[in-house]
Amino acid sequence: MCGIIGAIAQRNVVPILIEGLKALEYRGYDSAGIAIIEKGEVRRVRAKGKLVALEEELAKGSCESPMGIGHTRWATHGVPSVNNAHPHACGDFVLVHNGIIENHQLLKRDQSQHHFESETDSEVIVHLLNDLSGQCDGDLFDLVQKGIQKLQGSYALAVMRTTESDSVVVARHGSPLVIGLGVGENFIASDVLALLPVTSRFIYLEDGDVARISTHSIEIVNAEGQKVDREVKESTLEVGCTTRGEYRHFMLKEIFEQPVVIGEALEGRLSNIKVLDPMLLGASGTKIIELTKRVQIVACGTSYHAGLTAKYWFEQWARIPCEVDIASELRYRKPVVSDGTLLVVISQSGETADTLAVLNEAKSMGYVHSMAICNVPESSMVRGADVSLLTRAGPEVGVASTKAFTTQLVVLAMLAVSLGRRFELTSDFEENVVNQLKQLPSAVSQVLALDGRISILAQTLVHKHHALFLGRGPGYPVAMEAALKLKEISYIHAEAYAAGELKHGPLALVDEDMPVIAVMPDDDLLDKVQSNLSEVRARGGRLLVLTDHDHLEEDEYTTVLNIGTVPKLMRPVVFSVALQLLAYHVAVLRGTDVDRPRNLAKSVTVE
Ligand code: G6P
Repeated sequence: MCGIIGAIAQRNVVPILIEGLKALEYRGYDSAGIAIIEKGEVRRVRAKGKLVALEEELAKGSCESPMGIGHTRWATHGVPSVNNAHPHACGDFVLVHNGIIENHQLLKRDQSQHHFESETDSEVIVHLLNDLSGQCDGDLFDLVQKGIQKLQGSYALAVMRTTESDSVVVARHGSPLVIGLGVGENFIASDVLALLPVTSRFIYLEDGDVARISTHSIEIVNAEGQKVDREVKESTLEVGCTTRGEYRHFMLKEIFEQPVVIGEALEGRLSNIKVLDPMLLGASGTKIIELTKRVQIVACGTSYHAGLTAKYWFEQWARIPCEVDIASELRYRKPVVSDGTLLVVISQSGETADTLAVLNEAKSMGYVHSMAICNVPESSMVRGADVSLLTRAGPEVGVASTKAFTTQLVVLAMLAVSLGRRFELTSDFEENVVNQLKQLPSAVSQVLALDGRISILAQTLVHKHHALFLGRGPGYPVAMEAALKLKEISYIHAEAYAAGELKHGPLALVDEDMPVIAVMPDDDLLDKVQSNLSEVRARGGRLLVLTDHDHLEEDEYTTVLNIGTVPKLMRPVVFSVALQLLAYHVAVLRGTDVDRPRNLAKSVTVE
């Protein structure tokens, strides 16, 4: 939710800010802006809409400076507009903010002498700094430290002051912020991806930190105001890891990367017959699962669907008691936590506010141990959990999650086995899972080869207003994920139902205009799903059936997409890839912005 960037150098930083904002656009894209200091005055250039609008605005005149800040916005308070776009300015100060200031209305009451240009919560911060500068001595670094004492909520912010053109000051509480280290120049951003073209050395700020960034120095104080040194880390990510290459969209590229990244997720973690606990979990993780009696999974969005799928594996493969909750629900529902419950948070970004809040409150909620399944090694969740399992999918740019989801499933399958060994999972079963995991990259490649056929099938959905997805067993969360994919990128209203629930309501919706997409693996529940689908046919409904069953006949109501021979235990992964392609092609045919669907953002760092 919103991306921020800043740079201070001995060269013009505006192109660095713009390139960085491009890499941060996944965090929000309803408006963008930059600020520089020019002849002792703040100069802002802002535009409503995607970054290209800001670039057009900048192209109208020259804009150069060795120091600047920038922002790309996902609206929470106030509509997308130029006035609501960051940076916000007051007096000598100009600021960008990611997060939510929960007490902004209270603060605003004390700022009645100010003219508010925007409807945002963020603008109060810049007025606050301006007021403080009139009330007490101190430079920008001091004022920010004082100012943040008054803020409630979450923030990553960067501030400049016209009278101090030698530094940018940043602060972090609950929203991600990194400092990028250069030679005679330094940078800040919400995410390392924004700074890869200029550096590979990063400092990850901790909650409560405030830092002064100059061309040749970095000064950091912690929440207690004490000077601290934070470790400098070398990023292994390469420039270009977030380019589209030959693909039309990031989403398509990321779908096609799945055979490789699934291989990465498995790499070094399996022997021929076993999941290698020390490689998957490390020493501390291995110790933690020894103490685990049950599992509580918590996540949002697509990651929640990965958790729902894993519940079947934990329970069916190994008889491990497992609950799965949406983070924003669990957070406020005061769960009764049984002894020995391992909290597992799943998150692509590792920054999703609700999931992170559950992790941060884990101990007080009664969870003795926590585990993060995450794609971003330096994320808040990885740093906050007792143990983390990385999904190794590489940066995912498309807002609709694809490769992050399937690699989450792969890691969860390995976890189910490691943990399951302590329950009822046999070594034969373990060997079976290991074999099937190893077949996954080629099984996924086989589904990707159906891309042409799937793009033709997508034509039957393109003019529909609604779609119903059905599945049973592990096919049910797969159907839920497929419905989410279709709705987020094509804007077709899509719902998923457990196929057995069809007759308890959704059947009333079925007619020839309501396509029904069935996830029908060739498993023990096949006959049950078949009967449910007969109920659809009998009402004139049109079916698209995804299956790995060899002999499923088509008829005037039914189209079959056979996805070939599939490693049976890993069906959710393979079926999901086919459904990702379906959603993708429907969206392309409808002409939506596939990678940046309206109103959404990839990293949801607000509650
Ligand atoms: C947003 C994204 C989804 C993602 C969800 C959870 O809604 O658009 O793709 O699944 O957040 O994000 P996380 O990073 O926690 O997996």
